[in-house]
Amino acid sequence: MTAPDTRSEFAGRVAVVTGGGSGIGRAVAVRYAAAGGTVAVVGRREEPLNETVRLAEEAGGKGVAVTCDVRDPAAVEAAIDGTVDRFGRIDTLVNNAAGNFVVPGENLSPNGWKAVIDIVLNGTFYGTRAASKHMLAAGRGAILNTIATYAWHGHPGTVHSAAAKAGVVAMTRTLAVEWAERGVRLNCIAPGPTETEGAGAALWPDEAARTRVLSSVPAARFTTPEEVAESAAFLLSDRAAYITGEVLVVDGGQWLGKSIYTDPGAGA
Ligand code: HXC
Repeated sequence: MTAPDTRSEFAGRVAVVTGGGSGIGRAVAVRYAAAGGTVAVVGRREEPLNETVRLAEEAGGKGVAVTCDVRDPAAVEAAIDGTVDRFGRIDTLVNNAAGNFVVPGENLSPNGWKAVIDIVLNGTFYGTRAASKHMLAAGRGAILNTIATYAWHGHPGTVHSAAAKAGVVAMTRTLAVEWAERGVRLNCIAPGPTETEGAGAALWPDEAARTRVLSSVPAARFTTPEEVAESAAFLLSDRAAYITGEVLVVDGGQWLGKSIYTDPGAGA
């Protein structure tokens, strides 16, 4: 088998990327465009979406900004149907929009729980449902859901997000089996600590917190949105045509590397 030419592997293809106005969503949209694709960038605020579109076009593809809150199923369906009306097809959906805040479980209100479940779990289902209508009819499609490894190992302060992302993993695996024979693949990507403005401000706001996070990563560095986008591009491409229902962890070994016992010979 000859090596595929990956430089134009999304030429003629159309993606919808939710949460595309910043961070990993923006990087995935730009990476898709850089390989010749067209991207509809979905998010709540128009200004950052327009910037992603500008970067996507600078990278060589086409882009359009679509404002929409993924908590609204009718708006999500309209965003996806509108993309198909405009570009004639949808090949790719990246459910990347997320809502999160670190909070001890006993302090989380029902409304706070609902806000995160609505964005992460329900929003992913609404997008998947709307896109799959077109993908199943066409007999092709790739869906990628952004999760976090605490979906299976849990993490203090993330009960809403961990529960939602665990639901997304179950949804991904279930629909991967239902739709495999009909040409639609679903996978998850689980990024580790990623150097984005949002994550940095929320999760490692000062030098001490940053050092603590870094010390939890065996690879001893943060990742970048662009590095995560490379893995996403692989899963969305035909290079991953036989991969479905899978979770690709891109975390520098972080979740496997939890130190439970110290080295007794290492001193204090
Ligand atoms: C406790 C909080 C809270 C906090 C909000 N709430 N922030 N409770 N601690 N820090 C509660 C509110 O009090 C309210 O409940 C309920 O949540 C809804 O809050 P609103 O502000 O009204 O909701 P809304 O404006 O819709 O905002 C949704 C949101 C917000 C999820 C709360 O943070 C958001 O939209 N975020 C989007 C961007 C984002 O978070 N991205 C992060 C993705 S990064 P009451 O009971 O008072 O009405 C990611 C990766 C993390 O997910 C990886 C970690 C390793």
